[in-house]
Amino acid sequence: MTLSLPKPEHYTPGHTPNSVEFMARRSAGSHAAFALPLFRAGMRILDCGCGPGSITQGIAERILPGEVIGIDQRHPESQQVAVRHANARFMQANVYELPFANAEFDGVFSHALFEHLARPQEALTELRRVMKPGAFIALRSPDWGGFVLDPWDDEIAAAIQLYTTLQQSNGGDIHAGRKLSSRLRSAGFHHVTPSASYEVYPSTALIAEFLAHQLTIKGHHAEAIHLRQWGQRPGALFAQAWFEAVGWKPWGMTTA
Ligand SMILES: C[S@@+](CC[C@H](N)C(=O)[O-])C[C@H]1O[C@@H](n2cnc3c(N)ncnc32)[C@H](O)[C@@H]1O
Repeated sequence: MTLSLPKPEHYTPGHTPNSVEFMARRSAGSHAAFALPLFRAGMRILDCGCGPGSITQGIAERILPGEVIGIDQRHPESQQVAVRHANARFMQANVYELPFANAEFDGVFSHALFEHLARPQEALTELRRVMKPGAFIALRSPDWGGFVLDPWDDEIAAAIQLYTTLQQSNGGDIHAGRKLSSRLRSAGFHHVTPSASYEVYPSTALIAEFLAHQLTIKGHHAEAIHLRQWGQRPGALFAQAWFEAVGWKPWGMTTA
């Protein structure tokens, strides 16, 4: 008899202060612009994989007097750095097994989670379960196929290759972004709309350090040093491609 074991999954950036501070710079305005028109006063929203919760706090402001619940596999309270709003609650939970009843939420938002999931389709089935019929889901993930770095040379190529290999060996998908809309359709969501945008880092030193940190932990010291040196080069550019997708749970879908 052959046993089919679940694919291993490990969150590549980890929860080091470096990684948490990097995420905490994000806001709803800077990173959830594609989803802002969806948020309405009084809604109950789930932010899945909320990390330090800086985007969650921006959602909270936009849905008053509604409530946003941020969940993360690492307790968000331990990563919390943003100002708290009374209508933002945080819980430790896994996207594959959410501690909510069927049809609790008017909307689900998830930023920079799906690229780390080994079982994205299973995650979508679980998210769909907790959504009310007619609720929206809004996802955003990077796609390394669209990243643009300048200057580009063999050493930076080797460092980037190492980081992407690490993410894949951790069960992640470096091309998660382009697949978001087709995954939503496969999970039964309707009126799926894809979009895309670029984030050009104001400080290449910051993103270089974020990536180099993980290479150092894994013992790839030469590549980490090269990344850090690259990040300090005057005029260096790091443009990250993000894909977004919005879909809707069909009105007739009363069960999970
Ligand atoms: C890249 S961070 C994004 C944080 C935040 N959404 C943002 O964009 O700033 C991804 C977060 O997803 C969480 N995560 C990873 N796998 C998870 C899972 N299976 N269930 C719940 N959270 C998960 C990680 O702990 C991490 O905090």
